[in-house]
Amino acid sequence: MSDEEAEPAQGRLGGKVAFVTGAAGGLGRDVVRRMAGEGADLVIVDICRPVDTVPYPLSTPEDLSDAVGEVRDLGRRVVARQADVRDRDALREAYDAGLAEFGQIHVVVANAGIAPLLVKDQVQAWHDAIDVNLTGTFHTIETAIPSMVDAEQGGSIVIVSSTAGLVGIGGASNGGLGYAASKHGLVGLMRTYANNLAPHSIRVNSVHPTGVATPMVADPVMAEFVAQDPMLSAGAPNALPVDVIEPLDVSHAILWLASDEARYVTGVTLPVDAGFINRR
Ligand SMILES: NC(=O)c1ccc[n+]([C@@H]2O[C@H](COP(=O)([O-])OP(=O)(O)OC[C@H]3O[C@@H](n4cnc5c(N)ncnc54)[C@H](O)[C@@H]3O)[C@@H](O)[C@H]2O)c1
Repeated sequence: MSDEEAEPAQGRLGGKVAFVTGAAGGLGRDVVRRMAGEGADLVIVDICRPVDTVPYPLSTPEDLSDAVGEVRDLGRRVVARQADVRDRDALREAYDAGLAEFGQIHVVVANAGIAPLLVKDQVQAWHDAIDVNLTGTFHTIETAIPSMVDAEQGGSIVIVSSTAGLVGIGGASNGGLGYAASKHGLVGLMRTYANNLAPHSIRVNSVHPTGVATPMVADPVMAEFVAQDPMLSAGAPNALPVDVIEPLDVSHAILWLASDEARYVTGVTLPVDAGFINRR
């Protein structure tokens, strides 16, 4: 899916193209909406089907089509593909389609992630968390690096981790441990890429949200899981008087890191957590 014509770009991301994973729903969808509103053209991917160990609904092909419509309604251009971040070839195809359309990609948001916190625990949930959240992010960034380096125009890579990437929460289940381990692993990935890519003026940072009002936490199964875990529930609230923040609160931070306003910010773990970590 792509557009032929668009108005000259205005806004904080005017003239830039962003590659966003997990873009059809939740936080990723909000990032797409906000970036398009700030003048970016988009290359978006989403799995658009369920994962067996994930108890809440992931996005559908219709959600991806809706995201495309939203970008176009905002006057920007978009290339969209159904792709699983675990599948490096599928990501490559999507990214190359974006390059063919736009010539260059300046911003990467590695957002796709799952919390496979099944009521009935199983070791597959560990593997799925690691494969999607950690290996999927590795695939996303590896896919983008060659063209970003070759273009010699710098860029910004934003990795969506979690508060569970900075402190020991996640619970005792296989999936919860996999979630925490994968989100911590993203910090190592971020810091190493930040050093590797700094000579090319490509910045790499991670954001660490507290609970966000998306399908990942709004689903009744997930709400029940969180309520029963003392590390995550009302026994461990945010410092600021808010239970769950909105996708827009995180999108603002991602947008800033993606923009030239943050041109000398790299290697940073940025909590967007209403004081959750500082309070612990
Ligand atoms: N919601 C929260 O409370 C919260 C808190 C901290 C961090 N995060 C992180 O934010 C990111 C976005 O989560 P969300 O809350 O929007 O969840 P979500 O489930 O609402 O949205 C995730 C999106 O990613 C897609 N996706 C899932 N697996 C994929 C895969 N293998 N390949 C491509 N796309 C895939 C889904 O279809 C969906 O559109 C995740 O990395 C998550 O771990 C969320």
